[in-house]
Amino acid sequence: MSKTSALRVVGDDASTTAIPNDLQAFWMPFTANRSFKARPRMVARAKGLYYYTPEGKQVIDATAGLWCSSAGHSREPIVEAIQKQAAELDFAPTFQFGHPKAFELASRIAALAPGDLDHVFFCNSGSEAADTALKMAIAYWHARGKASKTRLIGRERGYHGVGFGGITVGGIVANRRVYGSMLAGADHLPHTYNREKQAFSKGEPEWGAHLADELERIVALHDASTIAAVMVEPMAGSTGVLPPPQGYLKRLRELCDKHDILLIFDEVITGFGRLGAPFASERYGVIPDLMTFAKGVTNAAAPMGGVVARKHVHDAFMTGPEHVVELFHGYTYSAHPLACAAGLATLDLYRDEGLFERSKALEPVWADAIFSKLKGKPGVLDIRQVGLTAAVDFEGWKDAPGKRAFVAMDKAFHDEGMMVRTSGDCLVVTPPFIVTEDDIAQIADKLSNVIDATVNPS
Ligand SMILES: Cc1ncc(COP(=O)(O)O)c(C=O)c1O
Repeated sequence: MSKTSALRVVGDDASTTAIPNDLQAFWMPFTANRSFKARPRMVARAKGLYYYTPEGKQVIDATAGLWCSSAGHSREPIVEAIQKQAAELDFAPTFQFGHPKAFELASRIAALAPGDLDHVFFCNSGSEAADTALKMAIAYWHARGKASKTRLIGRERGYHGVGFGGITVGGIVANRRVYGSMLAGADHLPHTYNREKQAFSKGEPEWGAHLADELERIVALHDASTIAAVMVEPMAGSTGVLPPPQGYLKRLRELCDKHDILLIFDEVITGFGRLGAPFASERYGVIPDLMTFAKGVTNAAAPMGGVVARKHVHDAFMTGPEHVVELFHGYTYSAHPLACAAGLATLDLYRDEGLFERSKALEPVWADAIFSKLKGKPGVLDIRQVGLTAAVDFEGWKDAPGKRAFVAMDKAFHDEGMMVRTSGDCLVVTPPFIVTEDDIAQIADKLSNVIDATVNPS
């Protein structure tokens, strides 16, 4: 059999796209491959708030891609910046050499980050950012002469990507259980969700700040002299939008200070305006020692991630002979020129269109639309919302956990023309910041339709 698959041309003149006949070779990530390939949810173009299928059908992007295309798709200034950069400087190594846009983008990100989060280390994804931050934390204590501080503390239901560091501190069982014993010595705080106490809270729930005190128990068990860092998402996105309980993050900061433990915020989702501020650390008035970012930094038009370090963390490494590498870590594509160009154009766009402010201004409109449309529907068990994110938990089908949400997601795409995400029996929506009030109403209506359409197992 030939290994090259034929292309098929579909669509009218305006939307003609070639699509493959053979879907077998691409082993898709985090996807039910067999059901996708039996009934593909394929998109071929995107513009603004919309994706378009190869046949030219419009699909509302209610997920900003994967929480990342916050300014909408294929935005001209970003496209042009990437095109120009590809022609001017396609690649340059950043090990022992440099190129101007890497420094410019680092300065722009440092200026946007709160407090003395002033030094930016670039990588290519959220997973790499998480593992970079964890390694930096361990190396920091080594540089400070406290090399016994190596233990990493995460949180149940946390997601920090798929590297071994990230899955070790992460708390999603499906991402961990088949990968053996992972990194030694990690431990976990309890997650912060309690439906009985928090159901249908708009924004941050009142109940749950005390759960940060579990760090005292972990310190008592392991001793602070063995613990390098605590890593949490300010708002846990991947397990269904868990906003932090009021006061929780401040408490965690106090306890980390008390025990000389670094606090890492994973802002891969919450960074760049998702919660109405440049970073969640600003919304919550809590400055971590290390902060990861990815996704929104380039509006997802080029892969990029990174870690922002506070001055005291960075400066601890800047000792010893000046010709010697201070941190033995980095990626061939750290600060790739195309990603830097995309990042600079993206930050300009966020600023020029006031998109973080727009995200903040839309939050109450968003919350009202989602709650008024969906709260009280039969089988809807909880709605959580913070910033421009929302998650709706509903009763699943008997003996088939997650299947109702899967079918609802599939129906949303094929029947309602909307992209949503699932997490268990929960639908998650996180639109680009360019949504209008009408778009928001449409998203809420379409969600309502797919929830109604899946009451009974199909
Ligand atoms: C908080 C957080 N950290 C890390 C990651 C991993 O990012 P990536 O998929 O770019 O590796 C994600 C992805 O959703 C995330 O939400």
